[in-house]
Amino acid sequence: AFPKRVKVVEVGPRDGLQNEKNVVPTAVKINLINMLSETGLQVIEATSFVSPKWVPQMADHTEVMQGINKLPGISYPVLTPNLKGFQAAVAAGAKEVSIFGAASELFTKKNINCSIEESLERFDEVMAAARAASIPVRGYVSCVLGCPYEGKISAAKVAEVSKKMYSMGCYEISLGDTIGIGTPGSMKEMLTAVMKEVPVGALAVHCHDTYGQALANILVALQMGVSVVDASVAGLGGCPYAQGASGNVATEDLVYMLNGLGIHTGVDLQKLMDTGTFICNALNRRTNSKVSQASCRL
Ligand code: HMG
Ligand code: MG
Repeated sequence: AFPKRVKVVEVGPRDGLQNEKNVVPTAVKINLINMLSETGLQVIEATSFVSPKWVPQMADHTEVMQGINKLPGISYPVLTPNLKGFQAAVAAGAKEVSIFGAASELFTKKNINCSIEESLERFDEVMAAARAASIPVRGYVSCVLGCPYEGKISAAKVAEVSKKMYSMGCYEISLGDTIGIGTPGSMKEMLTAVMKEVPVGALAVHCHDTYGQALANILVALQMGVSVVDASVAGLGGCPYAQGASGNVATEDLVYMLNGLGIHTGVDLQKLMDTGTFICNALNRRTNSKVSQASCRL
């Protein structure tokens, strides 16, 4: 049975923009987040407190966090790879953070420059500081359906890393198909393994749409009881450390599908599409949302 309501986690301002080659003006980022705040979304991932040498596009994280209108009832989590990032995030006013690991050794090395084991030690430090500051922490696990460097990743490995991050105290584990390579078949197999270790109520899916499978994979996750789904307005996005990975499922397309299923999201599709138009105009690109293409021929 499908969940009655789904929490949509908008990752466009972070995942969507981190891979943009040209530096996006801070004012555009702030405007994007402020527009998203008016759509009914409850969670908007705002930026990441990573090294500006690694991801220059996110170097204005403090200005973004301090420039946006933080509306009551909406959380604006940010990525924090280590204690340094966590401290900078809190100083900038972040009230929620995300740590991000992976089920692949090679991806972990390329993305955050350490082994899985070392990453968990760093996360422990972040968790301790977050606990002391009463800051909720979300945990990402990348490469859950395949890795750009290692290829196939076993469901058992995904379950193991997910369990560790959940046991550390993450309130939610977002399972990332970083390169969008999964299918409904591999999604079902992976979720079956992970759900033995982490309660389904604490799971989210994060599907990139590289192979056009994102909505199908999300549908399978919903059927299995997952009720939190990450998405990116206009389907923007990609990971700078996963070459060729394209954007997340477009939030517009996700909301359209959920509306069709009668699943409540609280999100206003028209306002969302207007926000997609805004950011596509600002970036001078065509939307990746099929729903927007069909509705306004962007
Ligand atoms: P490192 O070079 O190993 O770090 O990078 P280090 O600890 O050796 O420090 C080197 C320098 O970086 C030092 O400065 C530190 O102070 C500084 P220096 O002494 O040379 O002047 N530094 C920092 N500066 C700012 N903020 C920080 C920070 N930490 C250290 N937090 C590090 C390690 C983790 C920092 C680096 O690898 C990094 O920033 N990686 C982030 C990569 C990234 O953002 N990837 C994209 C997000 S993940 C993703 O997209 C996947 C996801 O969407 C899910 C999915 O799709 O699967 C979430
Ligand atoms: Mg991603």
